Amino acid sequence: MDLTSRILIVGSTGLIGSACLRYFQAYHYTNLLTPSRQEVDLLDKEIVDHYFKKHKPEVVILAAGVVGGIHYNKTYPADFINRNLTIQLNVFQAAQQVGVDKLVFLGSSCMYPRECTQPMHEEMLLTGIPEPTSMSYALSKLAGVQMCRAYNQQYNQGRYIALIPNSTYGPHDDFDPKTGHVISSLIAKMHHAKISHSASLTLWGTGNPRREFVYSADVASAIMHILTNNNSEESVLNVGVGCDWSIKEIAEIVAKIVGYQGEIKWDTSKPDGAPRKLLNSRKMNELGWKPTVDIHQGIQHTYEWYCETLA
Ligand SMILES: NC(=O)c1ccc[n+]([C@@H]2O[C@H](COP(=O)([O-])OP(=O)(O)OC[C@H]3O[C@@H](n4cnc5c(N)ncnc54)[C@H](OP(=O)(O)O)[C@@H]3O)[C@@H](O)[C@H]2O)c1
Repeated sequence: MDLTSRILIVGSTGLIGSACLRYFQAYHYTNLLTPSRQEVDLLDKEIVDHYFKKHKPEVVILAAGVVGGIHYNKTYPADFINRNLTIQLNVFQAAQQVGVDKLVFLGSSCMYPRECTQPMHEEMLLTGIPEPTSMSYALSKLAGVQMCRAYNQQYNQGRYIALIPNSTYGPHDDFDPKTGHVISSLIAKMHHAKISHSASLTLWGTGNPRREFVYSADVASAIMHILTNNNSEESVLNVGVGCDWSIKEIAEIVAKIVGYQGEIKWDTSKPDGAPRKLLNSRKMNELGWKPTVDIHQGIQHTYEWYCETLA
């Protein structure tokens, strides 16, 4: 890949896709293809095939899909599996037809077994059953990882790469508490509690589960790193920061940054999800990639973006 390669980012309006767009632009890549959903509905095979044939991307970053927190996963499991599988099938098949040099697929730490030994390394995939609340999402993502392996095995070794970022946060995240992830939901809830002078705020679960959070620009840097590093034979790689926080600890950090001083209560009747999800990212680190954004800095940037854009 060089600065003039035709790089297609699908999902460029989303959290990770928009971070890739900003990151690649900052590094002076000049041939970025970023069709909107209106231009290319990835659920429509004919439209996807036509776009790939017309634009002949050399590199594809597949950052589109249906994503959401526990509540959304439990309410719309059929949409999760249908849409993610359809998008993956359409994009992989179209990419193979035009002979792309590289395709980066994004997996998720939800794919690992619920009871996985921590930190989780890539060989532990498919050694146990994923967390039931996000089963449809996890199985669609596992299918994507297997597609990378199968396409590499049958066609050209090393062209299809699955990166597995842990919980990602940053600008352009989904800040709707009904559908959003941990950090974006906490930011929105605490901001509203602050401006409405609420004396207390109730959050889901016990606050005890531990999670690893990666800032979206660090995921974008991992994607660029793997696309420009030709020494890797790996097709599945974790992307994490190497440490985790309890949800309580994260809630306290967010409260401090947002400036919410009320009481934080926990509704323990609501599900916690997996007890811990920490990735072993040794392989990515050995390839020379390291995250650079500290959690306080990342949440601060995200809150600033939220206040400027959505609040
Ligand atoms: N967020 C995380 O913590 C995380 C962690 C690990 C892996 N991942 C994976 O990374 C990928 C991107 O996640 P994200 O958090 O960036 O998601 P996101 O913010 O929800 O963005 C999803 C993107 O997909 C697009 N999209 C969805 N359905 C589409 C369709 N039918 N046609 C065209 N575009 C469509 C959306 O377009 P619109 O703007 O038009 O809706 C949006 O640009 C997903 O595969 C996800 O599984 C995410």
